[in-house]
Amino acid sequence: MSSTPDPDVAGQAPRRRTFAVISHPDAGKSTLTEALALHAHAIAEAGSVHGKGTRRGVVSDWLDMEQARGISITSAVLQLKVDDVVINLLDTPGHADFSEDTYRVLSAVDCAVMLLDAAKGLEPQTLKLFEACRVRGTPVITVINKWDRPGQEPLALLDEIADRLGIRPTPLNWPVGIAGDFRGVIDSDTGGMTQFSRTPGGATLAGRERIDAQEAAHRHGPDWQTAVEELELLTSSGQTHDHDEFLAARSTPVLFTAAVLNFGVAELLETVKQLAPRPQPWTDVDGQPRLVDAPFSGFVFKVQTGMDRSHRDRVAFMRVCSGRFERGMVLAHAATGRPFQTKYAQSVFGRERETIDEAYPGDVVGLVNAHALHVGDTLHDGPAVRYPPLPRFAPEHFAVVRSRDTSRTKQFRRGIDMLDQEGVVQVLVSDRRGAQAPVLAAVGPMQFDVATHRLEQEFGAQTLLEPLGYGLARRTTTAATPVIDGKQGAEVLRRTDGTLVALFTNKWRMSTVASELPEGSLLPMFGAD
Ligand code: G4P
Repeated sequence: MSSTPDPDVAGQAPRRRTFAVISHPDAGKSTLTEALALHAHAIAEAGSVHGKGTRRGVVSDWLDMEQARGISITSAVLQLKVDDVVINLLDTPGHADFSEDTYRVLSAVDCAVMLLDAAKGLEPQTLKLFEACRVRGTPVITVINKWDRPGQEPLALLDEIADRLGIRPTPLNWPVGIAGDFRGVIDSDTGGMTQFSRTPGGATLAGRERIDAQEAAHRHGPDWQTAVEELELLTSSGQTHDHDEFLAARSTPVLFTAAVLNFGVAELLETVKQLAPRPQPWTDVDGQPRLVDAPFSGFVFKVQTGMDRSHRDRVAFMRVCSGRFERGMVLAHAATGRPFQTKYAQSVFGRERETIDEAYPGDVVGLVNAHALHVGDTLHDGPAVRYPPLPRFAPEHFAVVRSRDTSRTKQFRRGIDMLDQEGVVQVLVSDRRGAQAPVLAAVGPMQFDVATHRLEQEFGAQTLLEPLGYGLARRTTTAATPVIDGKQGAEVLRRTDGTLVALFTNKWRMSTVASELPEGSLLPMFGAD
């Protein structure tokens, strides 16, 4: 396979827009995803992709547990083609317990859409995910959804964004009609109005009529006047879109939608097309950028097993960072230096799969049965490159796991290794506890349910889970380990990546122990308070 830069890449990469939606559960992420697919003509009718209750769910029904609980644990990738632009929408699990998973997905995107419920504004999970974007400097587009239902004042919502997130909201359009009476939007560029009209059940595209300011004033009277005045207020205080500020993640363009009615969704799609950043050079572990038209490189941001019920296979999701990916390429696996065959490359969206023949920077490739690949691994062609490992979150829940049946110890061990490699849970061990009783560590307790469910289903290993009374974790040093281990309500374990993790029952316990340790013995973990 050639390792010289492909001139085609220079043309293809700037056509990509790769983003994820960050939101609190119920803000309307699935509905919006579906509406975007409808607008990009990827589906014929809304209601065919996202599934709750009895509806067929492409996104979220791979695991019985997900179906039973109506939550989405898996992340999938939806690719939409809009004119000459290729949009990659990476799905993220909505539940807070899977925020580590979501963070990994966010590490693979160039932009995020922050979706808010107009009545609720910023919610805890939105804040947490926004913070993950801030850490990475990811530009964020804000969408205020459910404008067809009673909600807060639009100016109050913008103030909340500015005050609590410290980012300048710059409306690209402004709603005509209060929340609950969504008539349309003023386009802040032209000053004209796009008036929306409903279609039965919101299953097909909404009616959109462009009218000038005079006609809008005639049709909408005081509602139009209020909208104009509010927008003018923002414009005069400088809350207008500045592309450099947006790319630097200091400002966030704001749009208003009613995803369930498909109102404002065409505007969002157009915004993503026009404003979302193009794939940029990706920075390697040494801080060196790899140009997008350099030879192929990509990294695995997610490994998932059991997406296909009949095969229970393992898919490694790789974000292309540079060059052209061609199915069949033999790549180098940076972690081991071994060759990696890409015969079975696919695009994966929930259960839907297609063979993928080529991909460009910004695209996501699903590598099927890629048993050698772990989360964070780099694959490349040509000159060697290694991208930074993905940080592990600070776990807050801990439990000892044991196999109920000693005759299945081997399967149990294999299962634990796999869950660890996939990042389903963190696995901690110590000589004191022994290899047969590893400690599972999780950001949220539902991760334990997934882990035990999979040990049982995929490895035939029935388990016993014994919760430990610890509530927080810090990285620590070899020198501090014996001191901590000698204390009550504290213990040191080793994560499989070699990190020493000190566990404490609570903050007070931790500070008492810390007072007996040299400075710098307890180090914060990513995502900790
Ligand atoms: P999520 O993925 O972020 O969790 O949210 P989801 O799309 O499932 O939407 C949560 C609920 O909010 C759904 O109602 C959905 O129909 C509704 N919704 C989404 N967008 C809008 C909107 O723009 N306006 C209004 N009024 N509702 C919206 P549900 O009753 O929980 O489920 P369903 O049976 O309608 O699917």
